[in-house]
Amino acid sequence: MERIVEVEKLTLENEYEVSLRPGGWDEYIGQEKIKKNLQVFIKAAQKRGEALDHVLFFGPPGLGKTTLANIIANEMQANIKTTAAPMIEKSGDLAAILTNLEEGDILFIDEIHRLSPAIEEILYPAMEDFRLDIIIGSGPAAQTIKLDLPRFTLIGATTRAGMISSPLRDRFGMHFRLQFYNTEELAQIIKRASLKLECLAHDDACMETARRSRGTPRIALRLLKRIRDYAEVEDENEITLDRSRYALDALGVDDRGFDEMDIRFLELLISAKGRPMGLGTIAATLSEDEGTIEDVIEPYLIANGFIEKTARGRIATPKSYALFRLTPPVIGESPSLFD
Ligand code: ADE
Repeated sequence: MERIVEVEKLTLENEYEVSLRPGGWDEYIGQEKIKKNLQVFIKAAQKRGEALDHVLFFGPPGLGKTTLANIIANEMQANIKTTAAPMIEKSGDLAAILTNLEEGDILFIDEIHRLSPAIEEILYPAMEDFRLDIIIGSGPAAQTIKLDLPRFTLIGATTRAGMISSPLRDRFGMHFRLQFYNTEELAQIIKRASLKLECLAHDDACMETARRSRGTPRIALRLLKRIRDYAEVEDENEITLDRSRYALDALGVDDRGFDEMDIRFLELLISAKGRPMGLGTIAATLSEDEGTIEDVIEPYLIANGFIEKTARGRIATPKSYALFRLTPPVIGESPSLFD
């Protein structure tokens, strides 16, 4: 049975991920603003000998919310307990987690927007007053027992800033939105990881892989591992530009940095000839669920100006048309190019 709280379950694949993860700020690349702020807040908490205030991270998957939580734990020399909101089904599940915490511990809850309202209610006094209110019985005979909790730090992570309730959001002392990484930052991450994997990637190979990683370290590292497979099979102990290009093409990651789903998504919006398309229609046409489209596919395309979200739906921008060497439609006309 899966445990509600686990200190990182290690499968073979994510054993790599863990070992490729930066252990401290000295190894951590990118997200400079977040890093600077956190370094100050951690130092201040340490100086006062207190637990760090609660932290909320939001942003698309793969940008390193869990990595940052682990670095905070390292820097605070605190234990970290990791769980995800869908695993906390009953109030007793959360009570068990909270009562097992020790002074200064960090509790990391992933996908925190998925907590049920009843569970959130238990979290409020725990976050604010380090108190657990347990209700025994029901109706007029119900009794509340108040238990003191150790001072802990809750780190919440969510891909959906808009879906977290405002009372919960307000109880976090720090909010950080993770940004997509630029090509240079990703290239540094790839270089460092290739050294750890003992298969040095050449600078131009790092840049090429970085350009095709959708601004996301998790994708960059996954691609690196697959490129290394290609190199290994050819008995090469370094990764060259040619080998990375060959592997990336074989993996279906195109030289514009888009994967197959991005291309299908953009082609669909372009086929609408400038008319906004609703999320439901897009999801049904692409056979993809709405959550994945909103959380995984769209953020990168929006951040890079390929699509726009309007009140009436999504539209492709002129930059998308340029990508396919097409001319954007003139609003109100139906250009022959698209007929
Ligand atoms: N591995 C994954 N994310 C990283 C980052 N931001 N810096 C260094 N290594 C990483």
